Amino acid sequence: MQRTEPIRPVETNTDFKISHTLIDWYHENKRELPWRDTTDPYIIWISEIILQQTRVDQGMAYFLRFTKRFPDLSALAEAGEDETLKYWQGLGYYSRARNMHAAARKIAASFKGVFPSKYEDILSLNGVGEYTAAAIASFAWNQPYPVVDGNVFRVLARLFAIDTPVNSLKGKKTFTRIAALVMNPDVAGVHNQAIMEFGALQCVPRNPDCDHCPLGGECLAYASRTVSLYPVKPKKTKIRNRYFHYLHIVHKGDTWINRRSGNDIWKGLYEFPLIETEEAVDFAGLQKLEHFQRLLKDAGSLAVSIVLPDVKHLLSHQALYATFYKIEIERENDALESFLKIPCGSIGDYAVPRLMDIYLEKSERNVAK
Ligand code: ADE
Repeated sequence: MQRTEPIRPVETNTDFKISHTLIDWYHENKRELPWRDTTDPYIIWISEIILQQTRVDQGMAYFLRFTKRFPDLSALAEAGEDETLKYWQGLGYYSRARNMHAAARKIAASFKGVFPSKYEDILSLNGVGEYTAAAIASFAWNQPYPVVDGNVFRVLARLFAIDTPVNSLKGKKTFTRIAALVMNPDVAGVHNQAIMEFGALQCVPRNPDCDHCPLGGECLAYASRTVSLYPVKPKKTKIRNRYFHYLHIVHKGDTWINRRSGNDIWKGLYEFPLIETEEAVDFAGLQKLEHFQRLLKDAGSLAVSIVLPDVKHLLSHQALYATFYKIEIERENDALESFLKIPCGSIGDYAVPRLMDIYLEKSERNVAK
């Protein structure tokens, strides 16, 4: 494409041409989404937390269900953490739900139950980082804080042909500075919505339709035919393999579960007794482990079936290889006392990781057969 006029450095951006173009495009093309019809910071906050790691189409049903059950801050603050997690079940990244619940209680205790409007106060809430604080401050109160998420990174990296990797410290600073310069502060809220939506729909990661882009005349990457090279991706972090062996222990219609704690995945969710190993281990190997022997000591004879063998479950930086063993025991033993004993039929009342849910669905189907 032939460029007709030189691109002005963004530092001298005073007419906010890019911002105007983005906003015009937004009014023509935006998706109608329920959190866009409101300036209620609570609703905006919930939507932003859900959308941190979840796509709009996946998150929508959760958003609607969650805001129906917890329509305002006091409803969330008064609920228990377990119930909050139950409404989050299946969305993953459960620290988001735990943090939201803690933040709702913090707002009740420290901000008289009113969602804070000062950027620094919003940022002080559990689970709220710079991106989310900027989104809430600008969408709810039109405060001039630029949002910089994955979509915005991509749009800016291409527009200005920035090759700094987006997740480096330097990259974050560079992109935040440029995002602030591009944003028209008088219309910060709609500008931020527009640039994010533009990244989500027009300036998409693969094969963007640059020939029909309203910013084609401004885009350095397009001018140099290097759109596919931006944004520059950081090096991939190594995936950690973990081997999980779940013991669905059953005795007289009861089973045992455990609430996960510690600094690990799925904190606060429930699961069957778990043995984790560094390497893949079959049942013969599992039986030799001290952990297995301790758990089932004095339980009498065991009737073991493998209901779900070797499922691979991918998380962002971990690959879990899980096998579920259903073990009917003859007697309850002391080791099981450290777990929560529940009737088999009531497991559905507890928030469980998606992996457990896959197993439960499969074992229900087996029972029904
Ligand atoms: N992704 C993150 N925040 C969003 C929003 N408010 N609308 C659409 N997608 C988003």
